Amino acid sequence: MDKITVVGAGNVGATAAQRVAEKELARQVVLIDIAEGVPQGKGLDQFQSAPIEGFDSRVIGTNGYEESAGSGIYIVTAGIARKPGMSRDDLLTTNAGIVRQVSENIARVSPDAIIIMVSNPLDVMSYVAMKASGFPRERVIGMAGVLDTARYRAFLAMELDVSVEDIQAMVLGGHGDTMVPLVSYTTVSGIPVTQLMARDRLDAIVDRTRNGGAEIVKFLKTGSAYYAPSAGAVQMAEAIVKDKKRILPCAAWLQGEYGMNDLFLGVPVKLGRNGMEGIIEVELTDEERAALQKSAEAVLEPMALV
Ligand code: APR
Repeated sequence: MDKITVVGAGNVGATAAQRVAEKELARQVVLIDIAEGVPQGKGLDQFQSAPIEGFDSRVIGTNGYEESAGSGIYIVTAGIARKPGMSRDDLLTTNAGIVRQVSENIARVSPDAIIIMVSNPLDVMSYVAMKASGFPRERVIGMAGVLDTARYRAFLAMELDVSVEDIQAMVLGGHGDTMVPLVSYTTVSGIPVTQLMARDRLDAIVDRTRNGGAEIVKFLKTGSAYYAPSAGAVQMAEAIVKDKKRILPCAAWLQGEYGMNDLFLGVPVKLGRNGMEGIIEVELTDEERAALQKSAEAVLEPMALV
């Protein structure tokens, strides 16, 4: 790909830009922020690591959108992050204003781009981006499920003392306390996890996953997680750039899938060159279906406010 742009040069955005460049997913990586000098400084610093790390993606930072024109993908991380005691919904009004303005600019300079939304509250910000950009649902995808699933897989690997690579799992639903880790689809190299772990330990891990973001916020005090969130966004970008047709849990605009309409919710999505190339409907237990419904309600409530 010619160009990938990351909007927001803060913790998540700068780390995402660095990962994109190190993986050489695009010839040019553009970092945009409103803070004067910050994207320029971080972009230059990152490109100065190129001779050492051995990548040839050019990283440039800017306060405007013109340099990003023609980007195939925009990873949007602009906005404010959580502090201890805040829920993702507390960020709603501020981030909605920011994401609206960012999305209009993206549509103006890169009308064919794909937006990977990272700003929180994720599901609602994806909706704001879709509305403000006027892009079809295939080209606005939210990064949440990949992160929530990574947290779940990391906790399981720690508990079972096995490789993270051998744990397959899906976390569906909204990116909040109501997310739905699918225990029935969790396997270790194909072995159902329920054969390897007592139910109460598994329940504790599911619970820790739901609060995985808050756990980090509590440690950091001045901000929220960014290594895993940036890795999640870049995994989605890689699937698109390389047309990998990966099946990953992402926030997608539902049009009848899972019996729901007109909201972004985390579901298994096929990611390829065209963005969101399909939604896979998996069978759910009654309990999982009810949890997904509850999660949808938790997304619809703040959505009505933007
Ligand atoms: N346009 C571009 N950048 C903006 C704008 C804007 N209109 N408004 C704010 N920003 C920039 C800030 O200047 C800051 O550099 O967004 C950046 C946000 O960075 P951090 O405060 O470090 O926040 P971060 O941890 O990166 O989280 C960003 O991602 O995971 C989510 O919940 C998180 O919503 C938050 C977002």
